[in-house]
Formats: sequence, structure tokens, C-alpha cells
Amino acid sequence: MRTQVAIIGGGPSGLLLSQLLNKAGIQTVVLERQSREHVLSRIRAGVLESGTVALLKQAGAGDRMDREGQPHHGCYLSSDQQMIRVDFQEACGQTVMVYGQTEVTRDLYEAQDALGATHIHGVENVVLHDLKTDSPYVTWDKDGASHRLECEFIAGCDGFHGVSRRSIPDDVRREYEKVYPFGWLGVLSETPPVREELIYANHPRGFALASMRNPMLSRYYIQVPLTDKVEDWSDDAFWAELKARLPADVAADLVTGPSIEKSIAPLRSFVSEPLRWGALFLCGDAAHIVPPTGAKGLNLAASDVHYLSQAFLAYYGTNDASGLDGYSQQALARIWKAMRFSWSVTTMMHRFPEHSDYDQQMQRVELDLLSADPTARALFAQNYTGVPL
Ligand code: APR
Ligand code: PHB
Repeated sequence: MRTQVAIIGGGPSGLLLSQLLNKAGIQTVVLERQSREHVLSRIRAGVLESGTVALLKQAGAGDRMDREGQPHHGCYLSSDQQMIRVDFQEACGQTVMVYGQTEVTRDLYEAQDALGATHIHGVENVVLHDLKTDSPYVTWDKDGASHRLECEFIAGCDGFHGVSRRSIPDDVRREYEKVYPFGWLGVLSETPPVREELIYANHPRGFALASMRNPMLSRYYIQVPLTDKVEDWSDDAFWAELKARLPADVAADLVTGPSIEKSIAPLRSFVSEPLRWGALFLCGDAAHIVPPTGAKGLNLAASDVHYLSQAFLAYYGTNDASGLDGYSQQALARIWKAMRFSWSVTTMMHRFPEHSDYDQQMQRVELDLLSADPTARALFAQNYTGVPL
């Protein structure tokens, strides 16, 4: 088997890259470990930057998002009983789109089907070979047989636990990591969202987030210790704790109901450099993880894919390799900005185990600045809605 770009991983990064390349006439094969149903069962964040929205439309996968997504013009940061609204449009002239990552992934699979793209699911033991030569190839096992795909390039879009990043030698790869001492317990419920816009809540009992997917589907989170298990949290206990962390007037309006999904995710900041090693290019969670507080995970994956797809188009269109050569540096510049933003919002909003009075004052001043200073709101809004590509 032969292709131009072998894509490891059929999550949002791999699918969006495949879609943009296929539309430009560049051949790809997507190799995904799980079934499509499994990929589509994962619940992830749901806030899209305007650049991500534009890229999905460019990829021909934006129709349902245009119909069903909800444009948001602002969000709230609450501090105990106080609600601070950041008006994105007033602060920086941008908006975001609330549309679940699961829906984005489904739309991308459908767009790929319409183009007749090649996806192979259920691949095991994927190995990348000869990355420093002009003839790299990928091998894997499926249904008891070994398979081989010859290619010109490999895009490593296989998430944090994938094989691609680890194919870069240890003495070349540099990893930066920060693990936060808490997780988020998330609940999805078929109830109307408590407010029309997201609320990020700072509270002495810990962080909480009120988010949504559509007018009858809410997504809520609370900060929990890493030692907590999902089984420790009944629905009633979750709702009671969420209410305690939201401002009282908001909590009074909260409609509760049975959870249809409940899970705990640890918070981590992680970057692996460089993003290129010979024929291999890393994209999305394979190269970096952000804590979910800034809603940057999917958006960063999309910006990597934007830079990489442009670079492949220039290479295959006019034999211009400068985009491929510059990919790592260009993508990393934006990745580090999102790292800073996600870390700073995480630090501003959570209770840390060693939280001192000094730390508390720092959080108070940060939130006061956002409340009182249009410049602080503009900086927050620019980063939240997405720094330019
Ligand atoms: N071989 C083939 N596929 C693999 C392998 C492997 N060895 N390891 C992992 N995969 C697949 C996973 O099953 C998954 O479907 O790669 C895919 C990676 O998808 P994601 O983890 O979703 O990562 P990515 O596509 O970069 O998406 C960006 O944005 O909101 C964030 O973390 C969130 O998933 C999200 C991410
Ligand atoms: C979500 O809706 O799941 C969500 C929204 C915003 C975040 C994180 C998660 O910052």
C-alpha cells in the first residue's frame, strides 16, 4: 500500500488534516486504533475559536455547526458571589462558537466519507520506520495479519498516549510538563443550561464551571482531589457541591437531573519539542496537552493542522518546502501562548492544596483587574477567542 501522507490517529487532528489534504488532491491514509463508534463516544470540550470555525468551514465540515452551534459573545468569571462578564465583542471584536468536539468529529467523519477518504480502524502495534529517509513507512497488525504502508510523510495525530511522539529519539525530544494537584469531575445532563453563557467559578470550596452543548444539554464541572473516584460522587452530591460553588442567585436557578455521563479528568500542561523529526510531523494532543480551563485543546489541534496543511499544500503545489521546515517553530509559538493562557486561568480559578493567603490575594487582584480594567478584559478575550493564526 502507498500514499503521500500517512496519518496516525483518527481524532479531530487526524481527520481535519486528512480532510484539508484530500480536498487539495493530496492522498492520505488514516490509521486509527479504535472503532469509529468508540472515537465518537468520547465527550470532550465544546468551545471553538473563530479560527477553528473558519477552518472547519474551509474543510467543508461546517454546515451542521453553522445550523446547530451557538455563537457566544461573552462569558462570566464568578468570584464567590460576584459575577464578572467579559464581553468578547466589546473587548476584542471576536466571538466563539459553542459546539461539542464530539459533533465536530462526527461532521469530519461524514465529510471524509463524502470524499471517499481511506480510514483503517482497529490497527494494533503501529510502528513508524525510516523517519530520517526519503522512504518512510508504517507497519501495523490487524485481524491477525501484518500490514505495511509506504509514504512520503507521516503526521502523528495519535493523541497523548500515541506512538508517534515516542518515535522521536529521547536525545532529540525535549518535554515540558506540569501536573496540577486536582482533577475535574464532569457531568453531562439533559437539563437547560443555568445561564446562556459559560460561568467559570472561583470559590473557597474549589473551582466550578457551568457550560452547555445546546438548550437542553448542560455540561458542568467541579474541581476534585485526584484521589476522588467517579463512584464517590452520586448525582445528588455533585449537584449540591456545584450549587455551593456558584453564586447564590445562579445556584437558585440551576435545574438538576440525572447525569448521562460522569467522568474525572486530571489537569496537565505538557509540550514536546520539536514537532518535526525527519518525515514525521506531530499535531494536536500528540505534541501538547493543556488543562481544560481555557478551552484550548481542540483549538490548538486545529491551529497545528492549519499550519501543517498549508505547508503540505505549498510542498505538493509548488515544491516549496519552507512551510514544512518552519512548521515546528511556527506552531510552537502559538502553542506556548495557549499554554500560558491555560496555566494562568487555571492558577487564577482553582484552590491549590497549599493555597496561602498570599495566593488568595493574587487571585483576588487578577479577578478585580478583569472586573475593572478594559485592558485586562481585552487580553483575556483575545486569548480566549484565539490569538490570530
Ligand atoms: N495507533 C493508531 N491510533 C492511535 C494510537 C496508535 N498507536 N494511539 C492513539 N490513537 C488514536 C486514538 O484512539 C485517538 O482516536 O489517536 C486519536 C487521537 O485523538 P485525540 O486524543 O482526540 O487527539 P487529537 O486528534 O489531537 O485531538 C485534540 O483536543 O479537546 C482536546 O484533548 C482533546 O481530543 C482532543 C484534542
Ligand atoms: C465544556 O463545555 O466541556 C468546556 C467548556 C469550556 C472549558 C472546558 C470545557 O473551558
